Parts: sequence; structure tokens; C-alpha cells
Amino acid sequence: MSSLHRLVYTSFRKSNCDEKEIEKILESCKKNNPQRDITGILLHSDKRFIQYIEGQKDEVLELYNLIKDDDRHTSVNQRNFEPIDKRIFPSWEMGYKDVDKIEFDTEASNEDQNTFNGLIKDELDFDDNALRILQLFFKMA
Ligand SMILES: Cc1cc2nc3c(=O)[nH]c(=O)nc-3n(C[C@H](O)[C@H](O)[C@H](O)COP(=O)(O)O)c2cc1C
Repeated sequence: MSSLHRLVYTSFRKSNCDEKEIEKILESCKKNNPQRDITGILLHSDKRFIQYIEGQKDEVLELYNLIKDDDRHTSVNQRNFEPIDKRIFPSWEMGYKDVDKIEFDTEASNEDQNTFNGLIKDELDFDDNALRILQLFFKMA
């Protein structure tokens, strides 16, 4: 039986992955993730990606296997994979942010945006490995 899981990976953005390709990735997220009941966030800087994916275990793994082979990034490195009781970003089919920009590029509930803002401003003390990895990414970006 499948159960709710989350997965975090980091990767390096390849030079072929320009803004147009990022838009295509987001189109894929919008189209596919709701069908798979996947939520999460995708962050990037000029050089790197980090993605937090949550959903049923089989769906998460299937999506990750697909993403891993995507030619627009390299050195894909799984950082976290574990069962969870509930989602952190329940309303977001894939919240997206260029960490060098301030505005949000996708729609989300206020609650999810607050979680996200707390995360990037280092205001919330997350007792949570996956979220700490995301915070670390912001500090490095
Ligand atoms: C960094 C990165 C993150 C991605 N995240 C997702 C995702 O969350 N959902 C998704 O469907 N595709 C994602 N993709 C794209 C997939 O690798 C793949 O191209 C896409 O799912 C193909 O589906 P489509 O032909 O229906 O668009 C991502 C790609 C990259 C490089």
C-alpha cells in the first residue's frame, strides 16, 4: 500500500536550461502534478535546482525517476526521502521561485505562502530535516 512521502533532491542547472526551458518545466508541473496528486516547491538560482516533492510514495518515486533523467540538469542528488503525516504545501502543484527574485510566480494559498516565506526568511524553526535542507539552499544561493 502506498503512503504519503516526500523527497528532496538538489541538482545543477545545465547551460541549455534557459528561462524558456524553465517555463516549459513549469508547464509540465502544472499539467502533470495535479493528476499525480503531487505538491511541493521548485527553487532555482542561476546554477542550481532544489525540489521538494510530496505525494503518495509510488507517485513521488515515479516522478523523481522521470526528473532524474531530464537533460536540463545534472548531478541529481537525492537528499531526503521519508514518510510524512501531512503535506507542507497542500495547495501548490509546484510552487516555484527564482531565488534571486522576490515575487512568486505561481498561485498558492496564503498559508502555503506563509510557510514558504518563513522558510526563506529563516523565521521559522523547523524541526524537520527536509526543510532545513531548503533553508540551507537559500543561504548558499
Ligand atoms: C529541475 C526539474 C524539475 C522538474 N519537475 C517536474 C515536476 O515536478 N513535474 C513534472 O511533471 N515534470 C517535471 N520536470 C520535467 C520532467 O523531467 C519531464 O520533462 C516532464 O514531466 C515531461 O512531461 P510532459 O511531456 O508531459 O511535459 C522537471 C524537470 C526539471 C529539470
